[in-house]
Amino acid sequence: MGILEVKDVGKRFGGLQALGDVNLSVAENTVHAIIGPNGAGKSTLLNVLVGKLIPDTGSVMFDGQSVLGRKPYEINQMGISRVFQTPEIFIDLSVLENMMIPCFAKRDGSFRMHAIENMHDEKDIVEKAESMLEDMNMADKREMHAGSMSRGDKRRLEIGMCLAQEPRLLLLDEPTAGMARADTNNTIDLLKQIKDERDITIAIIEHDMHVVFSLAERITVLAQGTPLVEDTPENIKGHPKVREAYLGESA
Ligand SMILES: Nc1ncnc2c1ncn2[C@@H]1O[C@H](COP(=O)(O)OP(=O)(O)OP(=O)(O)O)[C@@H](O)[C@H]1O
Ligand SMILES: [Mg+2]
Repeated sequence: MGILEVKDVGKRFGGLQALGDVNLSVAENTVHAIIGPNGAGKSTLLNVLVGKLIPDTGSVMFDGQSVLGRKPYEINQMGISRVFQTPEIFIDLSVLENMMIPCFAKRDGSFRMHAIENMHDEKDIVEKAESMLEDMNMADKREMHAGSMSRGDKRRLEIGMCLAQEPRLLLLDEPTAGMARADTNNTIDLLKQIKDERDITIAIIEHDMHVVFSLAERITVLAQGTPLVEDTPENIKGHPKVREAYLGESA
């Protein structure tokens, strides 16, 4: 039994079956990659996992509790954090100010009230944000304008903002999309470090096979909304069904 169990999940958008019959089990403290060609339904599946979309059929259980019907912030409180396909940082704030935002958050999601009512806590919040920046190897960038950083550093900050919420499951939607190779390699190293240092399960959607094979312990291949195959990276490499799914793309 995995920490995340997706059973028979289907989702239609009008006439389009974006997710067919998705079954997926993610084992605790592993890195599980979900790969597949454009339009395969990867982001749709992630949106279902975080409560942004309600599936037409099926169930999604996290640590024995259903996530379906819960609001995104409730799912967040259950211990699931998500990094979006485009970085969701506040580009007009400093790196430290960005990191302070999740540090304000209480598990009940009422971070605004908490911030206003407990301004004397600000020192603790700054300390927590600074220690998170140190964990992310970003302490030297604390005063930097977040919008002026490289794509790789924006992503690093965003991943750190998710980790500040102390998730048990971190979901990443193409964290290296549009990155230069050096930034991609830095992101791989960061995710390896996170995996080694924390009790955390990571589910990653990724196009870049270099990233997938550097990190994943299990891989699910999705095509046209349905999992084609789930296996270890060794068995996925060269698998005929994977080549078929990626016809026209490099696998
Ligand atoms: N809100 C929506 N309304 C209608 N169709 C949608 C919606 N969201 C996604 N789709 C369609 O559902 C299918 C799956 O989309 P999805 O974004 O999940 O694919 P993906 O695997 O993440 O692709 P990519 O690799 O390009 O990010 C696509 O055909 C897409 O056009
Ligand atoms: Mg997508």
